[in-house]
This record gives sequence, structure tokens and C-alpha cells, in this order.
Amino acid sequence: METLLLRESEALTRAAELLKRGEVVAFKTETVYGLGANAFDKRAVHKIFEAKGRPLDNPLIAHIADISMWKSLAREIGGGALSLAERFWPGPLTIILPKAMFIPDEVTAGLDTIAARMPRSPFALELIRECGFPIAAPSANLSGKPSPTTAAAVLEDMDGRIPLIADGGVCEVGVESTVISLVDEPKVLRPGAVTLEQLREFIPDIVLADSIAGKPMSPGMKYRHYAPLAKLVPASGTADEQAAFLCTQYDITPNAIVICSEETAAKLSSRRHIILGSRNSPAVILSNLFESLREADRRGAETIFMETFGADGAFLAFRNRVQRAAGEN
Ligand code: TXA
Ligand code: MG
Repeated sequence: METLLLRESEALTRAAELLKRGEVVAFKTETVYGLGANAFDKRAVHKIFEAKGRPLDNPLIAHIADISMWKSLAREIGGGALSLAERFWPGPLTIILPKAMFIPDEVTAGLDTIAARMPRSPFALELIRECGFPIAAPSANLSGKPSPTTAAAVLEDMDGRIPLIADGGVCEVGVESTVISLVDEPKVLRPGAVTLEQLREFIPDIVLADSIAGKPMSPGMKYRHYAPLAKLVPASGTADEQAAFLCTQYDITPNAIVICSEETAAKLSSRRHIILGSRNSPAVILSNLFESLREADRRGAETIFMETFGADGAFLAFRNRVQRAAGEN
């Protein structure tokens, strides 16, 4: 299959046509690029899993353009869910609720719950409205790779696998949405740009899933995810300790690249580094994470040493992605 790359301004009609015909289309959201299909069409949804090489037991997020669409997905939407939606949508928050009867099992991987989110990108919202149905969409990477934050990164993974990529430029947030479940006790399943601190203003007793809180992971969570080809080694300790550690790695590790803040880069003995941004701007650091991993691979790094920044605010999402990408390293 030939993969067409069109700018957003030229892509809307074509993308909507393809989606209505049961095809898969990649499009930008404010978090990462998504690989979308009609959430009500199980054959279309199955094509997403094929294109990504995604395990069938991993459920998808349904993307909506308004609250009435949400009502077609969820069995019942409580007041707490509605006020979260009012505060954070459109935006990088995914809310899991008990699902409506007629959602195909392919979307939810057979679960009794449905994840939904209203993205912030104008093109994504327009596309959903034009289609008139919710668009099920995981991140548009091959399963296991870092999520794509540019159309070029989508093309690296999806060339020949899907008919169309709508190029909307660089994703502003740069990591996937915060995922919360409101099914039983409110729980954060995946940290993102909407922080735990922000969520606690609405749900004071919301907890972190064990896998995020740093407790031992359940077996399924151990798999490497978001991973570059290079071996990824996170640094630890204070900023000074990390800088000292990173400097010595250049001498003893062949073909190493360091990914770090601009403050740490100023202390390094080699230019073989990729700068994420200032440690005073967590959102910028987060937004450059996935692209920096892909860039290290493009430069042929064998080992990536990664600076880390604790777990406050947006840095919780950063730590979570780096831990999962590093696996056991
Ligand atoms: O920002 C995002 O969320 C991006 C853009 C495209 O919207 N999408 C995304 O999708 O990251 P994906 O498939 O890569 O990640 C969805 C996550 C997975 O960890 C999945 O297991 C979880 O959400 N998930 C989806 N439905 C669920 C459900 N019903 N129960 C528990 N977890 C669910
Ligand atoms: Mg993903």
C-alpha cells in the first residue's frame, strides 16, 4: 500500500472519506500522532492492530468531539466525570468509564469499560465531527516504539502500512494523555501532562496505579515500551551526581549519546548530547522526550544515557516513560 502524506489543510476531505470507508488514517493530536479508525466498525479497528503490530489485549481510546458522542460510548456519566471533562477537555486527559452495550470488543479488548478523550487539536476535532462517529486511536507508532510527535516519525513506522498521514506539524504536549479510571476507586493508570496535582483539585482521593508509584510492577507492565533501538540507561541522583556520571560514560561506553537538560549539557565533556530544554520548564522537557529517543536512534547511538528529574508535576510522566523505555536497564 502507498502511504500518502498530506498537509492538514489538504487532508480533511480525504481523511474523512477513508475513515468512513473503514480505513485507517494517522492524524495529529496535541499529545502525539494517533492512528485512527471508526470506533463503531470492528473490521476498521482491527486494521489498527495490524498496522501497529499491537497485541489484541491492549484496549484503545475513543476520541470524541463533543459530550453527546461520549454519551454514546459510556453507560453512565456521573457528575464527577462531567466536571473533569469541563475542566480538562479538549485536552490531554483520558477518562475510563463503564462502556455502552454496542461498542465492539475490538476497541476495548473485551473489557467492560471504555476510554474516551476529546483532543485539543482543531484538525482532530474537525475530522471527528466530519465523520460523525468517535475515532478509536492509539499512538501512531509500531508497537513498542516511542510515540511519534511529528509526521516524519509516523512515516518512519507506518510507511506502506496505512493509506494516509495528515501532517499537522509538531505535537505540543509530546507524550500521551493522562489516563484515569473512574470505574472503581479513582485511579491514574498513566501519568501525562494533566498532573496528579491538578487532578487532586477535583478528586482529592485519586491514587496512582502501583506501576506508576514505583512499586513492583505487574508482569504485563514489565515489557519494554516506548523503546528506542539503542539501550537506554537512566541516570539517578542529584543534578551534580548525574552530570558527573554522564561525563564518565563518554569515556567508557562506545557510541554513547546523552539526553539531558541544557543546564547539564553545559557541564558535559562531549558534544554527543541531545538537549531536552531547561529543567525549569518541565513541559518543554516532556515534549521533547520521544523525539530525542528517535533522534538518538537516527544518529546511530548504541547506548543512551538519560538525565532524570524526579517525579513532581509533569516530571512524573517523564519518569514513567523513561522507566518503561529502559525496561530492566
Ligand atoms: O494521548 C493519547 O492518549 C494518544 C492520542 C493518539 O490520543 N493515544 C494513546 O493511545 O496514547 P495508546 O493506545 O497508545 O494508549 C492507550 C492507553 C493504553 O495504555 C491502554 O492500555 C489504556 O490506554 N486503555 C485504553 N482503554 C482502556 C480501558 N478500558 N481500561 C484500561 N486501560 C485502557
Ligand atoms: Mg501507545
